[in-house]
Amino acid sequence: MASREPINDLDLKRWREYDDILTDSLWLLGKRDNQGAHTSDYWGNFAPQIPNQAMRRFTRQSELVLDPFAGQGTTLIEARRLGRHAIGVELNPTVVETARERIEAQENPYAVQTALLEGDSVSLETVERVRCQMNEWGFGQAQLLILHPPYHDIIAFSDDPRDLSNAPTLEAFLKQFEQVVCNFAPLLETGRFLTLVIGDKYAGGEWIPLGFYTMEAVRRQGFRLKSICVKDFHETRGKRGQRSLWRYRALKGNFYLFGHEYVMFFVKMATALQSVTT
Ligand SMILES: C[S@@+](CC[C@H](N)C(=O)[O-])C[C@H]1O[C@@H](n2cnc3c(N)ncnc32)[C@H](O)[C@@H]1O
Repeated sequence: MASREPINDLDLKRWREYDDILTDSLWLLGKRDNQGAHTSDYWGNFAPQIPNQAMRRFTRQSELVLDPFAGQGTTLIEARRLGRHAIGVELNPTVVETARERIEAQENPYAVQTALLEGDSVSLETVERVRCQMNEWGFGQAQLLILHPPYHDIIAFSDDPRDLSNAPTLEAFLKQFEQVVCNFAPLLETGRFLTLVIGDKYAGGEWIPLGFYTMEAVRRQGFRLKSICVKDFHETRGKRGQRSLWRYRALKGNFYLFGHEYVMFFVKMATALQSVTT
C-alpha cells in the first residue's frame, strides 16, 4: 500500500510562501549554487539545486535518500544541508576519496548520517552493502532515489569496464542502467519518488534520445512518470570557448546544440518489478 503520510515538510496552508520551490516544468536555474562544500570542478556533476528541489519536495527531514551514481557527492552534501540521511555509491575510488573529504567539510547542523560507498551499482553485492548500511541506521527502506548516470559515453569517467560511460554500445548502456534501477527500486518505499537527471547525445549524425530511452527503462521497473522537467544546460568545460565553432557546425549540419537536459520524476507503484536479466 502506498503511504498516505505527507511526503514533504511543506505546510500547504502557507503555500504562497514557498516562492523558491519550482512547480513549472521549465527549469531555468542559471548559475549553480556554490555555497557550502559544493564546487563545480568535477566533470559532469549536477547543480546542487536539483537534489535540493527533489529533497524538499519529496522527502521530510530525517528521511533517507539514495544516490547510486554519487560522483563528487553533490546529493550527499545537499542532504547534510537539508537534514536528510543519505547513502551514495560511486565506482571511481579517486572520486570517492575527494567526495568524502568534501562531504566531511560540509557542516552537519541536523546531525544526519551520510555514507559514500565505493562500488558498482550494477552489482547485487553493492546493493546488499547499501541495505546493510540502511539497516545499521534503522531504515528498512529509503524515501527518495536520485539517479544521475553518465550520459552514455559523452564523458568517460574512468577506464573501468563496469563504468556505464564505457558501455560498448547504447544497448549495453541501457541494460546496465536498467539493472541499477531494478537493483535499487526494492530499497525505495512504495509511493515515494525517483528522480532521473539525464541529457541526450549526438552520434553518427543522429540525435540519440537517451532521456526517453532511460525514462522507458524506469517505467518498465514499476514506476509511474509524474513529470518531465527541462533544465537549462551550461556548456561543459570541453566546449567552453568553442561556442562560435559549434554554432557554425550546427548551422552547417542542420542540427541544434544541446541547451537542455531532463529532470524526470517518477513514483514507485505497488506492482511487482521485472527482472532485467530474465
Ligand atoms: C553524471 S556523474 C554523477 C555526478 C554527481 N551527480 C555529482 O554531482 O557529482 C556519473 C557518475 O557515475 C559513476 N559511475 C559510472 N558507472 C558506475 C557504476 N557502475 N556504479 C557506480 N557509479 C558509476 C561515474 O564514475 C560518475 O562519477
